[in-house]
Amino acid sequence: MTTRLSALLVVHVAFIVFGITLVNAQLISNFYASSCPSLQSIVRSGMRAAVQNETRMAASILRLFFHDCFVQGCDASILLDDTSTMQGEKSAFPNVNSLRGFDVVDVIKASVEQSCPGVVSCADILALAARDAVFLSGGPSWNVLLGRRDSLTASYSLANSNLPAPSEDVDSLISKFQAQGLSVSDLVTLSGAHTIGQSRCVNFRDRLYNDDGSGQADPTLSATYLVQLQTVCPSSGGDDNLAPLDVTTPTRFDNIYYKNLLNGRGLLTSDQELFSSNQTSTVSVVQNYAASSASFFTNFPTSMIAMGNISPITGSNGEVRINCRVAN
Ligand code: HEM
Ligand SMILES: *[C@@H]1O[C@H](CO)[C@@H](O)[C@H](O)[C@H]1NC(C)=O
Ligand SMILES: *[C@@H]1O[C@H](CO)[C@@H](O)[C@H](O)[C@H]1NC(C)=O
Repeated sequence: MTTRLSALLVVHVAFIVFGITLVNAQLISNFYASSCPSLQSIVRSGMRAAVQNETRMAASILRLFFHDCFVQGCDASILLDDTSTMQGEKSAFPNVNSLRGFDVVDVIKASVEQSCPGVVSCADILALAARDAVFLSGGPSWNVLLGRRDSLTASYSLANSNLPAPSEDVDSLISKFQAQGLSVSDLVTLSGAHTIGQSRCVNFRDRLYNDDGSGQADPTLSATYLVQLQTVCPSSGGDDNLAPLDVTTPTRFDNIYYKNLLNGRGLLTSDQELFSSNQTSTVSVVQNYAASSASFFTNFPTSMIAMGNISPITGSNGEVRINCRVAN
């Protein structure tokens, strides 16, 4: 009894002490309520215009946010251009010739600057834009937590090491998400972002012709889907040819990505692995979402908020950039 009580006391004291740092780093949804009341509508209309011009832009912006958060936290480091003294993240292997939407962020940032100069971070603009991307594609909406500041630097090497590759197996995906404080369930839930957007042939070619060096196609691929993909992605050349990540409803944010996995229609190894590895912890989540769109739509916002909470900068080691591409 005494040990239990003192253990409780220790936990309680630890929580109070630790709580101070937590409170310091806490993001809140009304952070700009008085300093920039029109923020949410500016971002929403910027995203609406961008997606109306090109449907795929929703996917590209959502991916930008993911690639920002996995490298030094959600600090807009992904948006920094290289300088003579700093190699940024844009040229890292998972990003180069692949990330899109930087000019859309610039346009939105410029309208925000016009209404509320020097107030809103690029990191927060990206978090709001990613939420709007999901909503405008037919997905759920949620309150975005705000108050992040922008980094002064970016990391080419962390972009290469932290971001998962499309060829990775489920254990390796799980450990990359856990390294960011995200759970197995977050991995499966956030992978549902692949319900929209496109991938280049170079990222799934091996599955079609030479899976794991076998000289054969990946046996988990549906036979009809395999033939379909081979017409888009030849065994050599055409690296940049595109295929939708969700072959059934490529531009609609829905749970069909998960139904596709049950049918051998995941485009990347990293997608199909969530089901075909037979790892119970991911398979059960895939099956839940394939059966219940409501469950996916409830959990996706929660996992996006968890990803958005990765190491935010809230103190003097960050700033509000004026131009998202360069530190002030
Ligand atoms: C689980 C590990 C993941 C891997 C290995 C992965 C890998 C990839 C790859 C290789 C592409 C195609 C890029 C290209 O061909 O240029 C892609 C596209 C995309 N990814 Fe992921 N991804 C993962 C998780 C996520 C997460 C967590 C999100 C967001 C929450 C996300 C959002 C997207 C979107 C929306 C696209 C389409 C982008 C566009 O069309 O411009 N991905 N991903
Ligand atoms: C509209 O989309 C096209 C690609 O489909 C792009 O080249 C162009 O820059 C976009 N225009 C605007 C204003 O965003
Ligand atoms: C997963 O289970 C299926 C059906 O039992 C089996 O055919 C397949 O080989 C298993 N895959 C792995 C990677 O163990």
